[in-house]
Amino acid sequence: MCGIVAYVGPRDAQPILLDALGRLEYRGYDSAGLAILNGHGVQVRKKSGRIEELAKACRAKPVEGRSGISHTRWATHGAPTDANAHPHLDASGKLALVHNGVIENYLELKDRLAKAGHKFASDTDTEILAHLVGDCFSQNQEKGEVRLIEAVRKALKQVQGTLGIAVIHSDLPGLVVGARRGSPLVIGVGNGENFLASDTQALAPYTNRVVILQDQEIVALHADRFEVASPLGQKADVRVEEIENGVTASDKGPHPHFMLKEIHEQAETVRNAFRGRLDADEATAKLGGLNLSSEDLRRVERIFVLGCGTALHAGMVGKYLIETLAKIPVDTQHASEFRYGDSPVHEKTLFFAVSQSGETADTLGALREAKRRGFRCLGICNNVSSTIARESDGGVYMHAGPEIGVAATKSFTSQVVIFTLLGLLLGRQRSLSAAHGREILEALDKLPDQILALLQESASIQRAATAYAKARSMLFLGRLANFPIALEGALKMKEVTYIHAEGYPSAELKHGVIALIDKETPSVLIATQDGVYDKNLGSLQEIKARGGPVLAVAHGDDAKVAGLADVVFRVPRTHELVQPILNVIPLQLFSYHMAVTLGRDVDKPRNLAKSVTVE
Ligand code: G6P
Repeated sequence: MCGIVAYVGPRDAQPILLDALGRLEYRGYDSAGLAILNGHGVQVRKKSGRIEELAKACRAKPVEGRSGISHTRWATHGAPTDANAHPHLDASGKLALVHNGVIENYLELKDRLAKAGHKFASDTDTEILAHLVGDCFSQNQEKGEVRLIEAVRKALKQVQGTLGIAVIHSDLPGLVVGARRGSPLVIGVGNGENFLASDTQALAPYTNRVVILQDQEIVALHADRFEVASPLGQKADVRVEEIENGVTASDKGPHPHFMLKEIHEQAETVRNAFRGRLDADEATAKLGGLNLSSEDLRRVERIFVLGCGTALHAGMVGKYLIETLAKIPVDTQHASEFRYGDSPVHEKTLFFAVSQSGETADTLGALREAKRRGFRCLGICNNVSSTIARESDGGVYMHAGPEIGVAATKSFTSQVVIFTLLGLLLGRQRSLSAAHGREILEALDKLPDQILALLQESASIQRAATAYAKARSMLFLGRLANFPIALEGALKMKEVTYIHAEGYPSAELKHGVIALIDKETPSVLIATQDGVYDKNLGSLQEIKARGGPVLAVAHGDDAKVAGLADVVFRVPRTHELVQPILNVIPLQLFSYHMAVTLGRDVDKPRNLAKSVTVE
C-alpha cells in the first residue's frame, strides 16, 4: 500500500529518499515520486511503474536539495499514471504534498475549489488536498513555519477520510509538515537530520530511534528539531522509542525471494510464538499480555474473531481449536463486514482482532466498532508498534519478525499457534483434562523439528508445480480445521500465481463445485488421518471418477491416499488439532513454486499490498 518518506537534514535528499522508498517496495505500489526543495522552487519527479523508473528519471535530471518528500502510490482514485503519482502540487506550484489514505469528500471539495478557479492535473483525491492546503496557506496571515502548520490544520478540518501526509513549501525550505488521521506515520530521529515515514522499515539504515505519531497529531520537522502538536495546536508529549533494525534485500540470505525465506523461517517463528508460553506443570499456556485475570477469562462465554485475508483464515482455524478445547462458541467475521453490519453480539463476548501488520484499515475499524459497543478487544499482531497493537485492550504478539513477502506465510502459522495456546488456556480453565492439555503441549513442542523435516519435501513440491503450472483454475478442499487451510491454500495460489482458485469444505463438492471438475482442473485435497479422513477419501474418489487430477496433503505413510492421488504432499503426523499448522506449509510451497515457474513477481504480486491501510 502507499508509502511516505520525507527527509530534512544536511545531506542530499534525493538518494536518501530513493533508497528509503525502495525499502517500502514490499508493501505493494504502482507508481512513485518525490519533491525536493533547493532554492529554485519545488522540484518534482514522478513515474508510474517501479521505483527504478523514478530513479532513472532522477538520474537523467537530478535534483539537489536537502529537504524533500516522497511516495509510493497504490492506486485508488485514478489509474497508476505519471500524472496521478504523488507528490501533487497546489495551485501556486509552491506547495507539494504526498498522501496515504482516502479523502472521502474529495468530490465535494473539488467542486468547491473548481468553482473558485482551481485547475487539476490528475484524477486523484490527493491533488484536491494539496490545493486545499495551498488555499489555506495563501489565506493565512501567520508568518514563518506557523503559516504552513496552520494551513494543514485548517485544511484537515474540512476533510473526511483517512490520511497520513507530508507537505513542503518552497517559501519554507528546511521544513516538512506531517499529519496523520488513521494512516500510520513515524518520525525517524537522526543526528542533525530527521525523517518522516509511514513504515519504520524505510528508516532501517538511517536511525533506529522513532516517535510514533498518535492519531490526529501534526508534526513540524526540521533538521535539528521537531515539534508535535495535538489537533487543537497544543504541544504534545513525545516518546522516542528504539526499534530493531529493519530487513534489507540482502537479508533474503540464500533464498531468491522473501516468500521462500519466510516459509523456511517457520520452524523458528512457530517456536517464537510459543516460547515461554507453555506451562508443562499445569498442562496449560501462559499469556500474560491478555491483561485478563483467570476470573475474567472464566467469565468469557463467547469469542468473536475479526480479521482480513490470511489473518481471518487463522481465526477460522482458531474457531475449531477454541470450540474443541474450551467449548466456547466462536464467531469469525470479515472485519470489513462486522464494521458496518448489525451482528448482534452476546454481552459476555471477548473480541480478537488478528492482524500481522496491525495497520489493516478494515480490522482497525472493526476493532474500534467492537470497543465502541463496550466489548473488550484483544489484538493478535506481529508489529508491536502498530495501531491495532496499541489500541487493543491487551493481546498476544507473534514475534515472527518482519514479514516482507506480500503473501502472508509465517504470520499465519504463528497466529494458529497463538489460537492453540488460547484454546489450551481457556480449555484448562474449563473441562479440558490435564492429559489432553499435555498432548497439545507435546505436539507444539515437536512442531519446529517436524516443520524442518517437511521443508525437505520442497523439491517434490517444485516438481508438482512444474507439472501443474498450466492450470487455469484450481480447487482446494479440506474439512473442519482443514477447511480454513484449504481457503488459505487457495488464497496463496491466487495471490502469487494469479490462477483462479477456490477453497471449499470437501463435502460441499457435490453441492455445485463438482461441476468444475475436469482433467484440466486440479484439486488439492487435505486428507491427513483425522476424524473425517474416510469422508475425505470419498471426496477424492468422486474427483477421480470424473477425471480430475488430485494433489493430496497426506501423512507420509498413508498408502491409501498414495494409491489414489496423482501427487502426494507428505506431511509428518501430529495431534489432529495441531495438524493444520503442518498441512498449510506444502500449500505455501506449492503456490510459491507455481509462481516462480510462471515467472511471477513473487514478493510483490500485481495489485496487492502488504498492509492495506485504506478501506
Ligand atoms: C492484505 C494482504 C493479505 C493479508 C491481509 C491482512 O490483504 O494482501 O495477504 O492477509 O491484508 O493483513 P494483516 O496485516 O491485517 O494481517
